[in-house]
Amino acid sequence: MKFVVTAGPTREYLDPVRFLSNPSTGKMGFAVARVAAMRGHEVVLVAGPVSLKTPKGVRRIDVTSARDMLAAVEEEMAKAKSGKPTIFVATAAVADWRPAKCAPRKLKKGQMSDTLKLVRNPDILKEIGRRTKTAQSPTRPIIHSPTYLVGFAAETNDVIAEARRKCREKNLDMIVANDVTEKGSGFGVDTNRVTLVRKDGSVDRLPLMTKLAVARRIVRECEDLCP
Ligand code: C5P
Repeated sequence: MKFVVTAGPTREYLDPVRFLSNPSTGKMGFAVARVAAMRGHEVVLVAGPVSLKTPKGVRRIDVTSARDMLAAVEEEMAKAKSGKPTIFVATAAVADWRPAKCAPRKLKKGQMSDTLKLVRNPDILKEIGRRTKTAQSPTRPIIHSPTYLVGFAAETNDVIAEARRKCREKNLDMIVANDVTEKGSGFGVDTNRVTLVRKDGSVDRLPLMTKLAVARRIVRECEDLCP
């Protein structure tokens, strides 16, 4: 199988030295890429700015912004060999907004206003879902191979209900949900307590595990998705 995995944060620059971002370190996505490669799959890791080493056997594409990340994912999904199942695992913490303008030179303090105009970034996972699970747009490359989509949902309340809603809205086969307010879960740490919510509505609550163990479980679930 071919795995396309996104990981880490994105950066949305307002001038060459200032950006909007978040504290994602990429650990979960790098663990998924590492396990998938160890299990003999072809793996492409589309990584935002993180300081982790590329796992063995993984092809890494470094990107900065959400739009760069979408372009890299689209290209990799479209390149999938006809008939070879492709799994898109979206672990990246993509910035939902970007500054409406990016100045070519550093803005002087006097040139900056108190308010920043923002515009929405593309939702990479939703876009790939729309193009693989619903009627495809004629202006975009067509994805030939069977495609399975796995998303992540970091929540602070109503974790399962929110995960089910996102699973439907983004046409996902599975969503990995976690409550980021729980100890040992979320950004930067080596552990995660997640709940798997599948397209058929079934739910598996997993105990607190290392991100590597969570990755093993996710990759196994992905292998089971393919008939
Ligand atoms: O809607 P929400 O941001 O909670 O969805 C999280 C899931 O969607 C994650 O899998 C994340 O990688 C993906 N996502 C994305 N592009 C965005 C926002 C989220 O691919 N702009």
